[in-house]
Amino acid sequence: MDKEKQTVKKFYDNWKIENFPKYINLLMEFEEDLLINIINNSDNFKKIKNNLILDCGCGHGSYYNLTKEYNAIYFDFSTNLLKKFEKKHNLKTNKICGDISNLPFKDNSFDLILCINVLEHIKDYKKALMEIKRVLKPNAMAIIVVVNKESCINEDIFNDFVVYHRPLKKSDFNNLMGFDLIKCISFYFIPPLFKIFPAFILKRILSIFHKVDIKLNEIFKNKGQFLYIELKKQE
Ligand SMILES: C[S@@+](CC[C@H](N)C(=O)[O-])C[C@H]1O[C@@H](n2cnc3c(N)ncnc32)[C@H](O)[C@@H]1O
Repeated sequence: MDKEKQTVKKFYDNWKIENFPKYINLLMEFEEDLLINIINNSDNFKKIKNNLILDCGCGHGSYYNLTKEYNAIYFDFSTNLLKKFEKKHNLKTNKICGDISNLPFKDNSFDLILCINVLEHIKDYKKALMEIKRVLKPNAMAIIVVVNKESCINEDIFNDFVVYHRPLKKSDFNNLMGFDLIKCISFYFIPPLFKIFPAFILKRILSIFHKVDIKLNEIFKNKGQFLYIELKKQE
């Protein structure tokens, strides 16, 4: 395993959300709520029925509610986070530990792959994307979320992780061999200065921003803190 991967693994193997200040938890929940909304409203996600899904870099299962009704596999290389996942959701099966750059699955296995806030940690993110493509069925979709390099927000808690972390931009997903980029939007437009407010005020501010976030993306096109990308594997 290379040096960057070792530091990322060590970081997540020691990751304890309960040690973070309240405002970080609130901002992370804000991101999760926005994203769950976007995914639930995606026409391509709505098409998924009794198919096989891979949550690739699932962490401790923040997005479990999106996939729990489906046949899904949860994959991550942090044993710590997979254990937390098991405890939090009482899920004893379907969890696999491994490296995204070398997925232990056969070609053309999955009908949908979620890969949320993982690729920014991978030095060779294109190799990871090619692995995702390999295990996707033809015409199937990958939903990718990354910290946006072209963000006008620059929220330090997502940019300055004390671990290998390199934001990506929309053009990094153009012309990927064997994939069509079918959708790219950005989300999370809360300016970092609001985090100085006490938690109960920040909570109210976040609920206002929640309602306008999609509109803000129409104004500040692709300049939000995160990019949401749908890639379709070509036939
Ligand atoms: C920011 S967390 C995101 C977790 C989850 N997707 C979420 O959004 O809550 C990044 C995750 O990527 C995983 N990860 C990082 N590098 C990886 C790799 N090379 N292979 C597999 N998982 C990796 C970490 O262990 C961690 O769970």
